[in-house]
Amino acid sequence: MLTIQNLSKSFGGVKAVQDVSFSIREGSIHSVIGPNGAGKTTLFNLITGVYIPTSGKILLRNENVAGLTPDALARRGMSRTFQNLQICMNMAAIDNVMVGAHLSLNQNMFAGMLRLPSVRKADARCREEAARLMEFVGVGQYVDADATQMSYGALKRLEIARALAARPKLLLLDEPAAGLNHTETGEIEALIRKVAQSGVTVVLVEHDMKLVMNLSDHILVLDYGKTLAEGTAAEVRANPDVVAAYLGAAA
Ligand SMILES: Nc1ncnc2c1ncn2[C@@H]1O[C@H](COP(=O)(O)OP(=O)(O)O)[C@@H](O)[C@H]1O
Ligand SMILES: [Mg+2]
Repeated sequence: MLTIQNLSKSFGGVKAVQDVSFSIREGSIHSVIGPNGAGKTTLFNLITGVYIPTSGKILLRNENVAGLTPDALARRGMSRTFQNLQICMNMAAIDNVMVGAHLSLNQNMFAGMLRLPSVRKADARCREEAARLMEFVGVGQYVDADATQMSYGALKRLEIARALAARPKLLLLDEPAAGLNHTETGEIEALIRKVAQSGVTVVLVEHDMKLVMNLSDHILVLDYGKTLAEGTAAEVRANPDVVAAYLGAAA
């Protein structure tokens, strides 16, 4: 699905990502972990086209997509959520989800302005799909609610529904469990597993080690922008460098 080759990004003198390489198999859950400042969000921003790499390649199904805009990447099946909530609080919950579908809707602006029946039909279909996705992520009770009526945990899931509305093949989640309590984290874990089982390849940045260890087919450990270790959950957990640099530090 995705191959990263010798990817680097510098901000002035700061080497945020340094010579990172890895591959993600279609249908798998791949996690990126590491201490704060390790380069995880920068890596996401490179993959999703927010930043242009200083050097290296990003191959999405064998096409080098490094330097493409987030829009172009979304059209190629990439979607994401953000470390900090990006929900429009002055909108209805379902409208936030519908925003995510605009890329796959393929409707023309003039038709929209003229309120043609074809557009109204597409809008109704989009609304139906958004309601289905809200049900899928477990916030179906908020279909007629405003975003302000939702708890933080429900909003985190609404964001996932919005990302899914673009019908991605590859979904990147930046700290989906951040700020969630134990129960909510368990629910997010179940949801991510359900998303993967629906055929979406998942890349996950997350600090909650239990969630990462439970979910991941493969884990990449970054430290100071560089790959510290890579492997299955069991391999990474047993790696002395990881224990020293990350798990040890956390303990
Ligand atoms: N836009 C930016 N401009 C300058 N430095 C940045 C920018 N984004 C990230 N950095 C720096 O790059 C490093 C990695 O940051 P980040 O990718 O946010 O780490 P993480 O998500 O692992 O906590 C940090 O030293 C951070 O200060
Ligand atoms: Mg981050």
